[in-house]
Amino acid sequence: MLGIIGGTGLTQLANLEITHRQVGRTPYGEPSGALTFGRICGQEVIFLARHGYGYTIPPHEVNYRANLWALKDHGVDRVVSVATVGGIHPGLIPGTLVIPDQIIDYTHGRAATYFVESDKPVIHHDFTFPYCDAMRAALLQAAASAGISLRDGGVYGAVQGPRLETAAEINRIERDGADMVGMTGMPEAYLARELALCYATVGAVVNHAAGRGLSVDGIQMEKIQPVLGEVMLQVRHLLEQLVTN
Ligand code: HPA
Repeated sequence: MLGIIGGTGLTQLANLEITHRQVGRTPYGEPSGALTFGRICGQEVIFLARHGYGYTIPPHEVNYRANLWALKDHGVDRVVSVATVGGIHPGLIPGTLVIPDQIIDYTHGRAATYFVESDKPVIHHDFTFPYCDAMRAALLQAAASAGISLRDGGVYGAVQGPRLETAAEINRIERDGADMVGMTGMPEAYLARELALCYATVGAVVNHAAGRGLSVDGIQMEKIQPVLGEVMLQVRHLLEQLVTN
């Protein structure tokens, strides 16, 4: 079954026929909200809003472990994570959708593994390729069938937030090789790996990263809103196509 983790601008799916909601409890605490069970184009999916249904949980306080655990516990084996990002690469202008293929983790202090206080031996999971190939391919295929333009590949720089970056930080992150910057990519991707979930991210570029584009006066949230609305419409179409393909 497919699990969808919605980020900023995607706290519900208009095309989801909801069958029921269920509060999930896990050994790692509570997920960001009730799991929403339903169907998209007849296919069963489970949806979860990463920041809560009223956008109340900031990126550094999301219980990533509980979110993924609850999804897996209810039969999810494939996860699409939707995440807004700032574009660093000149091709990643606001309104672009991108399927990253790599991550650099700049986050700190987040619960980033399920291996704690247990007597199970630690496994160091391979994370050379942080996203699931099959899921990336399915998303790219869905985009092709739906005529949605989607960039294949890019390095996601996962920052701590909740503040946005300085221009110098973006320069540094770019020198490191990142093409986009967001606040939720990690530890979500790695926790999915620990749970053997086939996980990929759809990055929705909603702004030029700090000091990029024409944003001489900084990043204005009012400018992000209309782009967010537009790009999430595309994401909804993409998800519909993904489940019907
Ligand atoms: N920086 C970090 N996270 C983000 C941004 C950004 O510019 N845009 C959307 N998420």
